[in-house]
Amino acid sequence: MVDLSSYNTLRISAKASNLIEINTADDINKLPPENVFFLGSGANILFTKDFPGTIAKIKLSGIKVLKETNTDVLIEVAAGENWHDFVTWAVDHNLSGIENMALIPGTVGAAAIGNIAAYGGNQEDIFASLQATNIKTQKNQEFSKTDMQFGYRNSFLRQHPDYLVTSVTYRLSKTAHLNTSYHATRHASLLSTLNQINTPPFTIRHVFDAVVKIRSEKLPDPKLVGTAGSFFKNPVVSKEKFHQLKQQIPDLLAYPTEKLSYIDPEEQSEYVKVSIGRALDELGWRGKRIGNVGTFPQHALVIVTYPGATGQEVYQFAEMMRANVKKNFDINLEYEVVII
Ligand code: EPU
Repeated sequence: MVDLSSYNTLRISAKASNLIEINTADDINKLPPENVFFLGSGANILFTKDFPGTIAKIKLSGIKVLKETNTDVLIEVAAGENWHDFVTWAVDHNLSGIENMALIPGTVGAAAIGNIAAYGGNQEDIFASLQATNIKTQKNQEFSKTDMQFGYRNSFLRQHPDYLVTSVTYRLSKTAHLNTSYHATRHASLLSTLNQINTPPFTIRHVFDAVVKIRSEKLPDPKLVGTAGSFFKNPVVSKEKFHQLKQQIPDLLAYPTEKLSYIDPEEQSEYVKVSIGRALDELGWRGKRIGNVGTFPQHALVIVTYPGATGQEVYQFAEMMRANVKKNFDINLEYEVVII
């Protein structure tokens, strides 16, 4: 049995029967065809029980420039590379498209599978293709952006866990296309943070620095406290429902839903994605603690764990939050974190 507490950022002490590190493509052949769970850095996972199988810890590494034109660079990144290290590499090379996604915990493979996004930057906007091995057949397969069927924190591969992602290819731009439009009313907006730390004209590095500053101020550092980032997805509601919610919480924010593949394109303008952290804050959840589980004092959507927290304790705390949101706002929260 292997203890998984150092393999998940919530630091839950679940056990797995076995753990195999995947350092090279050859290591993939050693995996059994069944009962395997692929793990990056465990930054978006809650173990509520032991896993009676093999954990394959993805440690494939390497960043390779495949092609360069006058405008773009195509870069293949091994799935086990740390996401933020890759963002830092891109910014060091003055490549744009990724700077808004600085400091998101996790590996590159998980970033593609979970279609991560933050402060106006989206995984799917820079994604070119991905290589994966089907563990049942041991066949390699390339996935295009269309094949990936990206949705909000979702993709084809999130629904098909038999594929082990080996690398992701991104297209980054040699010209800075800065996106500084992200708003946050009660905490710092991206533009106001940029203006605080620099003077225009802004560069790729300035945006990177501003995002790092915002995240450091309002999200927990996984090195210091157990966390898996946003625990729930921001829920999608009708505009009418959002209007009702605004009567209760006037400064509630919502995002457009045009990238949500599960909503009919013709109906997307009828819906919005609500920043539920603000509503949880209104209900008193920000900084709340029960036993060894709580929410972060600066962000009610982010669950944090203290030493000794069990997976069941975290799950029960999360279910209390869900029930409270259902009761007060008649909204069903969905987990953003993968629950095992
Ligand atoms: N807010 C409060 N109180 C809180 C929390 C938030 O008033 O306790 C307010 C903020 O002031 C802001 C609004 O709610 O006006 C939105 O907060 P924030 O900017 O932090 O964004 P979010 O909607 O809570 C989403 C993503 C984050 C991502 C940020 C920035 C989801 C589930 N979460 O959070 O992603 O970093 O936007 O783009 O979509 C993650 O997925 O793990 C994650 C951290």
